[in-house]
Amino acid sequence: MYPFVLATHNLVRWLVLTAAIVAIAWAVVGWLKKKEWTKTGDLTGAIFVGLLDLNVLLGLILYLFLSPITTQVVFANFGAAMKDNMLRFYAVEHIFTMLVALALAHVGRVLSKKASDAMKKHRAAVIWFTLSLLAIVVMIPWNRPLLPGLG
Ligand code: HEM
Repeated sequence: MYPFVLATHNLVRWLVLTAAIVAIAWAVVGWLKKKEWTKTGDLTGAIFVGLLDLNVLLGLILYLFLSPITTQVVFANFGAAMKDNMLRFYAVEHIFTMLVALALAHVGRVLSKKASDAMKKHRAAVIWFTLSLLAIVVMIPWNRPLLPGLG
């Protein structure tokens, strides 16, 4: 169960990054070229936020139940874990920043749906999805395998 969820968490990261870039690029083009807000714009945002929801859920399952890093080491002595860079990363930095990224993505989706005109919708998607993507990129553990089974 643990290797399967970890491998899926690893792979879905690439889908999240791709979907974020597509959703942002679509909104940038719509904003700059003053295009109408179409179903495609809505769909690209929905796919990005949906995939991010999925990876956050997998991350929480790892964090709470499956990962030996948290369940066996961090939770055994949280205070001591704070003094170790790798343990502190998974104990607080990764989870906290990814939850912020999730909130930013959801704000972008709600605002781009509620905004009164197409320009504001595109602009909301560009700004909030870009902030979310930045938080995700910064907090991905790039020292871990780029694909499951690689290293
Ligand atoms: C609340 C949200 C999240 C939590 C609680 C979480 C939790 C974790 C944990 C505990 C690990 C280490 C598992 C282990 O090695 O035993 C991990 C690894 C990882 N996380 Fe997250 N995660 C979250 C969100 C995300 C998101 C949104 C992404 C990317 C879009 C991501 C990408 C990764 C990657 C690439 C790894 C390394 C996987 C590997 O070594 O194969 N995480 N995460």
